[in-house]
Amino acid sequence: MFTFKDYYRNTVHLSFEEEPFSKAPGHVWVICRYRGSWLLTDHGDRGYEFPGGKIEPMEKAEQAAVREVKEETGAIVEELSYIGQYKVLGKEKMIIKNIYFARIDKIEKQSTYYETKGPVLLKELPENIKKNQRYSFVMKDGVLTHSMKRLVQNGWITE
Ligand code: GTP
Repeated sequence: MFTFKDYYRNTVHLSFEEEPFSKAPGHVWVICRYRGSWLLTDHGDRGYEFPGGKIEPMEKAEQAAVREVKEETGAIVEELSYIGQYKVLGKEKMIIKNIYFARIDKIEKQSTYYETKGPVLLKELPENIKKNQRYSFVMKDGVLTHSMKRLVQNGWITE
């Protein structure tokens, strides 16, 4: 398990075990790959981030992952793989998120991208993402760096 502070100095616990903190997480976060590029969404206020959000009542985490990716980017998830789970101890509440890796092979244009401005395709993520104001705070802690390493370890992407 990894423990570190996020952008707002909240404590985060991250693990690549099978749902170590909760079998009923509240949120999902989906690292998306489309034909050799990263697929993110442009969240108006927060900036660029991998898509994700809250799991709705009666919905499974995997269903929420597929839905959120579609809503925020227009992308159809071809293959979804569980990566890990993290817990953020916020000032007011605690949140638990499942992290997934999604392979995408089709992105459809839509009339709305819900709370976001839609898809952003990037060949590479920038070197110093922590100092880059275009990027959301959720991209600025150990969840992204450890998850990226994990993708390479699992052989799901090449470095
Ligand atoms: P509503 O209940 O819809 O109002 O959402 P909210 O604005 O309270 O946000 P949410 O429940 O999604 O998250 C609550 C807090 O947890 C946020 O303000 C963040 O500080 C933190 N948080 C949420 N998602 C992440 C994440 O992916 N990474 C980190 N580090 N913190 C997060």
